[in-house]
Order: sequence, then structure tokens, then C-alpha cells
Amino acid sequence: MSKANLIDGKAVAASVRSEITARAARLLAETGKRPGLAVVLVGEDPASQVYVRNKDRAAEACGFHSVKHTLAADTSEASLLALVTQLNEDDAIHGILVQLPLPGHIDETKVLRLIRPEKDVDGFHPVNVGLLATGARDTALVPCTPAGSLALLKRTLQTPLAGLNAVVIGRSNIVGKPMAALLLAESCTVTIAHSRTKDLPEVVRGADIVVAAVGRPEMVRGSWIKPGATVIDVGINRVPDPAKGEGATKLVGDVAFAEAAEVAGAITPVPGGVGPMTIAMLMANTLTAARRQLGVAPEPELF
Ligand SMILES: NC(=O)c1ccc[n+]([C@@H]2O[C@H](COP(=O)([O-])OP(=O)(O)OC[C@H]3O[C@@H](n4cnc5c(N)ncnc54)[C@H](OP(=O)(O)O)[C@@H]3O)[C@@H](O)[C@H]2O)c1
Repeated sequence: MSKANLIDGKAVAASVRSEITARAARLLAETGKRPGLAVVLVGEDPASQVYVRNKDRAAEACGFHSVKHTLAADTSEASLLALVTQLNEDDAIHGILVQLPLPGHIDETKVLRLIRPEKDVDGFHPVNVGLLATGARDTALVPCTPAGSLALLKRTLQTPLAGLNAVVIGRSNIVGKPMAALLLAESCTVTIAHSRTKDLPEVVRGADIVVAAVGRPEMVRGSWIKPGATVIDVGINRVPDPAKGEGATKLVGDVAFAEAAEVAGAITPVPGGVGPMTIAMLMANTLTAARRQLGVAPEPELF
């Protein structure tokens, strides 16, 4: 039985970030401007606080102008909309990210749709969704987690993905759907599976590429994986870890890693796979947004 190659998302993300840092320095030399990222956090959700801190730190490490707005949990929708409007009009800010989830009294859709599409570095605005869906990826801002997953696939496979069978498990707007659109744009034959899919193991067995974005710990078993397939595990699930003591927890993906690694050709670990790529691609999107807004010619694609 073959042991899968481990896809080291941490290492790939570090190399992406170092290339972005170099490109940001060139942009500064050419234009006197730094890419500007504004991250907005409403409330005190601990996981969101960690994400926002990491994004802010990554932006600073890349040499960006980075601004963090932390608002109280009871901030009104009108105040948040006013802040987004102000950031939309701020020439020093090229990317705006409003950390989700927002408190229940705020209409998420309304807030996300107010962000100017060219500053929408999360890629959630319908204009960016539409550009990706209609094959105009070059002019869109693509959601960071699927973009990072595709980058890992391309680096791993080193050959065109055209003609490969890809199964994406999950159809969320944040991961599953944009992932499927990206794979289709690479000319894969794409199947999108979800909670109503019949005989999911059999569907997955036909896949050369499996992307799991479900949110169910270790749901995808090794016996579902076609020998030699490439497995990208987007899931991040916190589960009890009794081996480490009472109350201890650990992170696992949506794929039963040990089993799948016996069969797959290559697989991402959790943590250390897709996760680090998400922030790297946020930096890439911010740099892209800045170049477009400053009217500077695009640099070659990172992947
Ligand atoms: N690495 C990262 O940076 C990153 C970023 C974002 C998300 N994530 C992780 O990725 C996972 C998915 O996130 P998400 O936002 O896409 O989740 P989501 O919005 O909850 O969507 C989950 C999808 O999985 C499908 N599903 C649920 N149970 C299923 C089952 N038994 N069989 C087949 N499909 C099933 C759902 O189908 P229906 O549509 O039919 O309900 C849905 O489409 C989570 O673990 C999340 O933490 C990681």
C-alpha cells in the first residue's frame, strides 16, 4: 500500500507570503503606495478574534498598510454600514474584510453587498461570484480558501488538471461552490456533493481530486478514496482528545486522515494544510486589489 505524500500547506503559504512581500516592496518602489487592508471585527467571538489578529499580523509582515476596526457586539447595523462606506471611500484602503459571523441583529448580506466589489478581498460580493462563474477569474477577486486549495492542488500535481474527475463535498457559498467553479475553470469534470447526495462513498470513489468542505469530523473514510487520488481537506473541526487528558481537544479535518493517507497519492493534513493558505491568499487578493485600483499592470499569476 502506498503512503500518501503530505501536502505541506504551511510551507507553501510561507513561500507565497514571501513572494507577496517582495511584490509589495516593488509596488511601493514603483508607486509610493502600500497595499491597504482593513479588517473589521464586530463583537468578541474568540475564534474570530484570533482570525482577525492573524490577518492583521500577516498584512503587516507583508509590508501592507493594515488597519483593524474592533466594534462592540451591540454596534448598530447603521454604524457598521457607515464604517464600510467610509472604508469604500478611503484611497489608502484597497481591501475590506468584515469578519463573519456578524451578531444576529446585523444583516450580513446587506453589509457584504455594500463593500465595493474591487475592494471585496473575501470574494463574496455577487459581482465577484458572477465574474468567477462566467469564467472571468482574471478580473474577479476569488474567495481565499478555495483559491488556496487550488494553489495546493496545482503545486502538488504539477500537470494541468484538465480532464481529471473532481468531487467537491459541500456546496457553501464560501468554499464548496467557488471551489467547484475554480476546478471547472481548470477543465476538471466536477461533481458537487452535499447532504442529499445518494451513495456519497461511491461518488467519491470516482474522484481523482477530492475536496472535502463539510464540517463533519473525519466523515470521509479511507475506503472512499480512489488509490492515488489527491485529497484536499478543508474541514476544521475541534473534537475531544481524551489521550491528552480530560477536557483536552484537538483539530481534525473532514477526512479520516490516517486511513486516507494509506490510499491517496497526496493529502493535506489538518492543521497545517488548507488553513495557512487561506490567509496567504487574502494577502494575494489585497495585493491584486491594490494593483488594480492603482492602475498598475498585473504581475504574473502566483500559480
Ligand atoms: N481551512 C479554512 O481556512 C476554512 C475556511 C472556511 C471553512 N473551513 C471549514 O470547512 C468546513 C466547511 O465549511 P463551510 O463554511 O463550507 O460549511 P457549511 O456552510 O456548513 O457547508 C457544509 C456543506 O457540507 C454539506 N454536508 C453536510 N453534511 C453532509 C453529509 N453528511 N454528506 C455530504 N455533505 C454534507 C452541506 O450540505 P447541504 O448544503 O445539503 O446542507 C453543506 O453544503 C468546516 O469544517 C469549516 O470549519 C475551513
